[in-house]
Amino acid sequence: MVKIEKFSVRQNYTLYLQKKFLAIILAIESSCDDMSAAVMVDGVVITNVVSSQLIHEQYGGVVPEVASRQHLIDIVPVVESALSKSKIEKHEINAVAVTQGPGLLGSLLVGVNFAKSLALSLNIPLIAVHHMHAHILSHFAELPNPNFPFLCLTVSGGHTQIVKVEAYDQMTVLGKTIDDAAGEAFDKTGKMLGLPYPAGPVMDQLAKQGEPIFKFNLPNMKGLDYSFSGFKTSVLYFLKEKLMENPNFIKENLEDLCASIQNGIVKILMKKLIKAAEETEINEIAIAGGVAANSGLRAALEELKMTNNWNVFIPKMQYCTDNAGMIAVAANFKYLDGKFADQAIVPDAKLKF
Ligand code: KG4
Ligand code: ZN
Repeated sequence: MVKIEKFSVRQNYTLYLQKKFLAIILAIESSCDDMSAAVMVDGVVITNVVSSQLIHEQYGGVVPEVASRQHLIDIVPVVESALSKSKIEKHEINAVAVTQGPGLLGSLLVGVNFAKSLALSLNIPLIAVHHMHAHILSHFAELPNPNFPFLCLTVSGGHTQIVKVEAYDQMTVLGKTIDDAAGEAFDKTGKMLGLPYPAGPVMDQLAKQGEPIFKFNLPNMKGLDYSFSGFKTSVLYFLKEKLMENPNFIKENLEDLCASIQNGIVKILMKKLIKAAEETEINEIAIAGGVAANSGLRAALEELKMTNNWNVFIPKMQYCTDNAGMIAVAANFKYLDGKFADQAIVPDAKLKF
């Protein structure tokens, strides 16, 4: 068995600080249905390869067992592609970073075990990354970066949170959803309209050609927590009623329905974000996660930049949805801090924030 020497890790780290060599991090993300590998050289993501699994479309949602089996097929070609595109040889890598959780256990297992084996065989440190921390820290992939402390609205298929970020490793959840995530609200209402999975991006495109003429119930939650289930039910009953009158209602009003649903979800998201900014008196505002790709949400934030004097940070599209580039960015903070993971780590589907 190869012995990992703490000394050699430390020595590399010291040399890195002295700029004697460039730190090269290979990052792997496999928490859900995207397999991704990225190469970061000296804090800069130079390659970010993402392979998305289209197989789930036919089931209307991610099937965990199918996702993990597909990851087993994809992981080697995706990692090889990231390395060859970066013109980096395996022996040049200084650390391997991987998403430890949260996510689908079977999917995480593939990435974590691959990363552990690679780090062990190359005798280099392993860095474990929290998926949601990485979404937030993706803002440091490119300039301009938000100043600490900043607020980050993280909106994905599994999470909806308002997070106060005081440092890379000091984050507090101020509010979160008590039921569905924002991405789920897009996907589930989109399913009611007959849109393919994941419905969020499709709804975004269709909404651009429609007007938000239909109104649905918006939640009236106290504090900074979110709820989307009432909104979802309101869309369901509205559609049921309209379809009784006209069976072609959805087909004839698809664009306006998408614009109205998107408008409702964005309004729900913005209300609590504005409240959080007022309560904390923080005006550095960032968004992250898959739903951050939504053009309605982006437009609403651009408007608040003017009206509320916010400094708004919206990641590039490639850093919004799941990608290993953001894992590399989060890992780089840990690398610089010398915070490495033990070979004994295991994936954690419900990893604590
Ligand atoms: O962060 P992500 O890629 O994966 C998770 O960790 O969940 O987020 C995926 C979610 C899906 O629910 C998808 O429908 C949604 O992000 N999404 C969008 C858009 N692009 C992705 N929702 C609305 N508008 C978009 N443009
Ligand atoms: Zn994600």
